[in-house]
Amino acid sequence: MFDILAIEDDQRMRELLKEILSRNGCSVFTAKNGEEGIGLLERRTFDLIITDLKMPDIDGITILSKARELNPENLVIVITAYGTVESAIEAMKLGAYDYIQKPFEPEELMLVIKKALDYKRLADENLRLSSQLESCRSEELIGTSPRMTEVKILMERISPLDTTVVIEGETGTGKNLVAKTIHRISKRSSGKFLSINCGALTETLLESELFGHEKGAFTGAIKQKQGLFEAAHGGTLFLDEINNASLNMQIKLLKVLEEGRIMRIGSTESVPVDVRIIAASNIPIKKEVDEGKFRQDLYYRLKVVTVTMPSLRERRDDIPLLAHHFLDRYRERFNKEIQGFTTEAMDTLLTYDWPGNVRELEHVVERGVILEHGKKIGISSLPAELRSRPKEIMSSKSVMRLEDMERQLIQSALRFFNGKRDSAARALGISTATLWRKLKKYNLD
Ligand SMILES: Nc1ncnc2c1ncn2[C@@H]1O[C@H](COP(=O)(O)OP(=O)(O)OP(=O)(O)O)[C@@H](O)[C@H]1O
Ligand SMILES: [Mg+2]
Repeated sequence: MFDILAIEDDQRMRELLKEILSRNGCSVFTAKNGEEGIGLLERRTFDLIITDLKMPDIDGITILSKARELNPENLVIVITAYGTVESAIEAMKLGAYDYIQKPFEPEELMLVIKKALDYKRLADENLRLSSQLESCRSEELIGTSPRMTEVKILMERISPLDTTVVIEGETGTGKNLVAKTIHRISKRSSGKFLSINCGALTETLLESELFGHEKGAFTGAIKQKQGLFEAAHGGTLFLDEINNASLNMQIKLLKVLEEGRIMRIGSTESVPVDVRIIAASNIPIKKEVDEGKFRQDLYYRLKVVTVTMPSLRERRDDIPLLAHHFLDRYRERFNKEIQGFTTEAMDTLLTYDWPGNVRELEHVVERGVILEHGKKIGISSLPAELRSRPKEIMSSKSVMRLEDMERQLIQSALRFFNGKRDSAARALGISTATLWRKLKKYNLD
């Protein structure tokens, strides 16, 4: 429940405020003049302060500055008489959060108040996240969503064992990071963590990288070379993009896994290797098996444990935490004083689809830190593709017609204001006459 302080000299207005706010589930404290209001402000904190601007003793502007002086986080909404919007705008320049004009409808008042309380909630949430971040900074793998917690629990369980692990997930979901973390918390952590991308090299090069070669094994092999399997002895070898290894290479890998020994190219003797294998793929390997692109025997040998990384859109709860994590990183790197994200920007981050997952989010935040000149990363510092894709209205399947959207907006505004046309028109930013015309056009009478 929110605690709200209402300072208003007019008794009827004071009672009206109290009634509307209580009815909407707020706990309301009232003060009949500025002095009483400031007295209360000095004694305790409120989630929101509503003050009349014009009062005989101490005026609303003085209360506003006093409230902000006592606590810069104090949210103040001013009430202004009809026709004196200038003074309200003046108050907003001095730090008032919003204003409401007398006379007002209860719904209008609640609209302004709900917006302020949402803002307050977000500001508190930002604070909470920063402290949460502090406690998990050491872990590096950020995320507290159920899906991410599952991954972390599985990681803890399998790390101490020497089993082979397959990590599957879309690009940018953190497969490399998870592989490194598994190594770091395993009993092999004092050994090396080496990785190779199976899709980036030709078959011969990959083979010589993995197994090494004897001097003179092929043209260019001017001296003996140790392969990664040997170099990672006692540690972990990460085979990234294993799905891109050729079928021929897959046979060779299966052999190593089964025998625990390798043979350098050009050698006739095999040597034992003690390496834990972690493999990653950005498409489900099972699918590749079904299509005949991946050997079933190798697949079964590898997938003793499979860690499936959730895409970012499957764990949107983690977006704020991740965004703040990257903000911290890049704020420091670029030496900027940015404190957070505007509500609008965070909303955009929360609704975007993130095809590039955490990597894309990281780049978006990095870019935002570079471009932003204000204290908070705003929507204008986000890339255009994030801003221009309201999720609910557009999908690959359908694009909403502008007219349908207008009709829906008008309907919901009317519902919100219980059919009061002038309030709905004002909220929509059009005249009552325009609203009337549109109602006729859409048959909404
Ligand atoms: N949970 C997370 N917490 C913090 N940073 C993360 C997290 N997941 C991913 N990252 C960061 O996002 C970036 C991409 O992660 P990573 O390289 O591990 O993804 P990937 O799944 O291996 O992608 P690809 O399939 O393209 O290789 C890295 O900078 C990584 O540090
Ligand atoms: Mg990777």
